[in-house]
Amino acid sequence: MTDQVDIANLLEELRTFEPPDEFRRNAVVSSDAIYDEADADYEAFWAGQAEAHVSWFKKWDTVLEWNAPFAKWFVGAELNVSYNCLDRHVESGYGDKVAYFWEGEPGDKKELTYKWLLDETCRVSNALKELGVRKGDRVAIYLGMVPELAPVMLACTRIGAPHTVVFAGFSADSLSGRINDASAKVLVTADGGWRRGAIVPLKENADEALKAAPTIEKVLVVRRTEQDVSMQDGRDVWYHDIVPNQSATCEPEHLDAEHPLYILYTSGTTAKPKGILHTTGGYLVGVAATHHLIFDLKRNEDVYWCAADAGWVTGHSYIVYGPLCNGATSIMYEGAPDVPDKDRLWDIAERYKATILYTAPTAIRTFMKWGTSFVEKHDLSALRLLGSVGEPINPEAWVWYQQVIGGGRCPVVDTWWQTETGAIMISPLPGITKLKPGSATFPVPGIGADVVNDKGESQPFGGAGYIVLTRPWPSMLRTVYGDDQRYIDTYWSKFEGKYFPGDGCKRDEEGYFWFLGRVDDVMNVAGHRISTYEVESALVDHETVAESAVVGRVGQDKAENIVAFVTLKGDVTGDEALLQELREHVSKKIGKIARPAMIIFTEDLPKTRSGKIMRRLLRDVAEGRPLGDVTTLANENVVEEIRDKAAARAGKEED
Ligand code: PRX
Repeated sequence: MTDQVDIANLLEELRTFEPPDEFRRNAVVSSDAIYDEADADYEAFWAGQAEAHVSWFKKWDTVLEWNAPFAKWFVGAELNVSYNCLDRHVESGYGDKVAYFWEGEPGDKKELTYKWLLDETCRVSNALKELGVRKGDRVAIYLGMVPELAPVMLACTRIGAPHTVVFAGFSADSLSGRINDASAKVLVTADGGWRRGAIVPLKENADEALKAAPTIEKVLVVRRTEQDVSMQDGRDVWYHDIVPNQSATCEPEHLDAEHPLYILYTSGTTAKPKGILHTTGGYLVGVAATHHLIFDLKRNEDVYWCAADAGWVTGHSYIVYGPLCNGATSIMYEGAPDVPDKDRLWDIAERYKATILYTAPTAIRTFMKWGTSFVEKHDLSALRLLGSVGEPINPEAWVWYQQVIGGGRCPVVDTWWQTETGAIMISPLPGITKLKPGSATFPVPGIGADVVNDKGESQPFGGAGYIVLTRPWPSMLRTVYGDDQRYIDTYWSKFEGKYFPGDGCKRDEEGYFWFLGRVDDVMNVAGHRISTYEVESALVDHETVAESAVVGRVGQDKAENIVAFVTLKGDVTGDEALLQELREHVSKKIGKIARPAMIIFTEDLPKTRSGKIMRRLLRDVAEGRPLGDVTTLANENVVEEIRDKAAARAGKEED
């Protein structure tokens, strides 16, 4: 029981959920013929989506050029993303339509219309040019969810300068690492961002980062939190000093379909994040088509809310580019869900009459813990569709979401995808798919997916293994920025000719896909990817740490926490104060999201005779499982010691 909701009973009753008749009748997709049509000729299918959702300055000569694993989509075509997201809507009479109902954490509100967005985007484009940005230059963006965020991203697309957005929760070190990898020329940031009533010191972090990021020539600073910040003469410029007096006209560049659109960094299985490169035409087709089909978007009726952060791919694809390309009205909220109280999201959803809500299982589980009373205070009857993304959703959370937030009437689309895929790959179509709580159901039309064993052999229904994508798709990453070999090695080398996302998956007897989590050393914490190696290198960077091993501990509710095993140098004592210091150190090196929930000090780490750390054993310890065979260990008794220490620490961990 969670606050009046009998989940166990509901789960029993809700093994499957059919779309309600009315939903099906009015749905964007109401017949499953779309799957056969797309499978018969996937290039033709995507070409059709490209015609339907995107305006092209010049049409393509060839839909797909596939020199595996390098793809070019819509070869020879020209377009501009900001033109598609803004100008064409204003030209067709939608200038006054609200693109975003924007709400700040302190309670300030703005309605950002398509016309305002277009004008502001042009002004920012002109300002960026004044700061020296030219087509092809990279622009780093380190902002919270402020009204200027979309215009800044769109301005980059307008002038053909690929952006790299760095999540505002990342540290100075993470920011400088990304700026350096991308060799960004200009940084757009703010004095600060609001988070739970406190100021995230973005400019201060940026100043720190820029000491080690020499490629940045100019910094454009948005004023948001209004505390004093230092401005470096000749380098730093206030947004309000140069943007408002720019012309609100800026011709959109006619860009090649394969022109780089953005780089977004994501954790891999080494300490160095990978710069995932997306390009212009295919990406826009992918996000616009999936946003339309999967969210069943009715452009003039829906109020759509993706409650993610634009610092992650979900924000790029489903707050900014997909919805704007489709001319949608969205909600954008700056802050935390419990400010001033735990009903903030429901208050917002009620006031703007949100019809579609897209959020992550980790958020849903938090709402479950808070209880239904915060939801019941509000009228959420406008909601008609719910979405989930970022990690496997446990059936209990699915049912709670569907019943308590969705009033039992809304389909839930559990959408599986990645930074690399750009757009949703596995998901129900809400008007036709029979849902099963906890399953992302089937590949999106046009997408080829399979579940294979270690040898790459397809597994029959009922079997489990690795998910692979079997055909190229328009919004696929083109490479790892500056590192084609890493692109090949990471994604295309495990199974010949197949894209390997790194997720375990089983298919049930009816062919439904059930995701099982990552199969590599990447953790998924609160819907964010963090590599065990990144956290380990942050820990050993501390002067007291000799060695560390980090594992993700998955609980019953499928939530993953970071557990770190640490051996200290010499005679340093691992006390509570050091434990907190190490957590802060990780926070400083990477960002708050990477702080271990639990740190265990140990004399030694379990290693094989060849010196390899036995993570599997450590995961067993962290998850409280009986230990398997330890005879291959060079130091058998260390496991006992670690297990006792872990048991002693259980219950003492932090959020
Ligand atoms: O493990 C999968 C998990 O998140 C990973 C991708 O993380 P990221 O690139 O940060 O993108 C997150 C938002 C798209 C995947 O490899 N994941 C994402 N969505 C789901 C999921 N796992 C299960 N079910 C999902 N719906």
